[in-house]
Amino acid sequence: LTGAATAAAAAALSLAGCAGRQSALSPGGADAAALGTLFWVMLGGAVLLWLAMNGMFFYVTRVNASAMPRRLANGMVIGGGIVLPTILLGALLGWGLSILPDQRQPDDGLTIRVHGEQWWWRVEYWPEGAAAPVVSANEIRLPVGERVGFRLDSDQVIHSFWIPSLGGKMDMFPGRETYVSLEAEAPGVYRGQCAEFCGESHAWMAFEAVAMPPDAFDAWLDAEAGAAAAPEGGAAERGAALFAREGCGACHAIRGTGHVGQVGPDLTHVGGRRSIGAGRLAATPEAFAAWITHTDSLKPGVRMPSYDHLSDADAAALAAYLAGLT
Ligand code: CUA
Repeated sequence: LTGAATAAAAAALSLAGCAGRQSALSPGGADAAALGTLFWVMLGGAVLLWLAMNGMFFYVTRVNASAMPRRLANGMVIGGGIVLPTILLGALLGWGLSILPDQRQPDDGLTIRVHGEQWWWRVEYWPEGAAAPVVSANEIRLPVGERVGFRLDSDQVIHSFWIPSLGGKMDMFPGRETYVSLEAEAPGVYRGQCAEFCGESHAWMAFEAVAMPPDAFDAWLDAEAGAAAAPEGGAAERGAALFAREGCGACHAIRGTGHVGQVGPDLTHVGGRRSIGAGRLAATPEAFAAWITHTDSLKPGVRMPSYDHLSDADAAALAAYLAGLT
């Protein structure tokens, strides 16, 4: 590639990053819209200041310093060097602070607790007044038009919770809770991604946020709170037996069965999620089989071992069982 072609390719690539379902400049809610406006206005202000300063610099290097009237020289130093930046940057700061979203914790409403794990997301829904959470993993559903509070922490290392199209990102610390609130304005699927380097598979620590109409969200949460329905069919039933035989329940919980492991993601309704492995693969039966037998190559460093001793038929049976947990 020539230099020009490289530059054009880089520009096209960076512009491609400005659209789509994981972009701070493609807002799906007021918080992201405010941050997007902040970005463009700050960019405009910075360009304006850069042009003014460089215009003056260009001017003074073109005239003979001894020929320049003293008042003009003083004016450029005081006006261009002190007054202009102070006013412009001060105005940008004041305006920027004024449009930032209110992040105080409300007393009521839906709260979602998200715990960062290496490298996945433990998700708990706490509807207003709930005594116990609805536990899920690696996918976040939220009602449209309602401010949802996210209480965040982490188990081992620092992660960062970020859904660029919905709002600001927030770090997640072991032993300390942080808070961010978001409001989705349009139904849709927004991609989230861990935004703090947290180890080998940081890049594979993603999730999807599904914004739903409030009625649909309430119905979904009711269903999600229920136990798993035993999938029917020969392969799925054999898969259920294999799940027990292989000891999967030591790490994974499936409500309504005897499996109560807490180390890995809750699998109660895993077949109803859009992806598996924290955004790694689309949740198809083939992907479940691939994940179970190739965890170490799909997500290097993951704590779940590869069950590569399983025959293709056994892996397919386990996959049928898991994909049937909807
Ligand atoms: Cu978790 Cu990066």
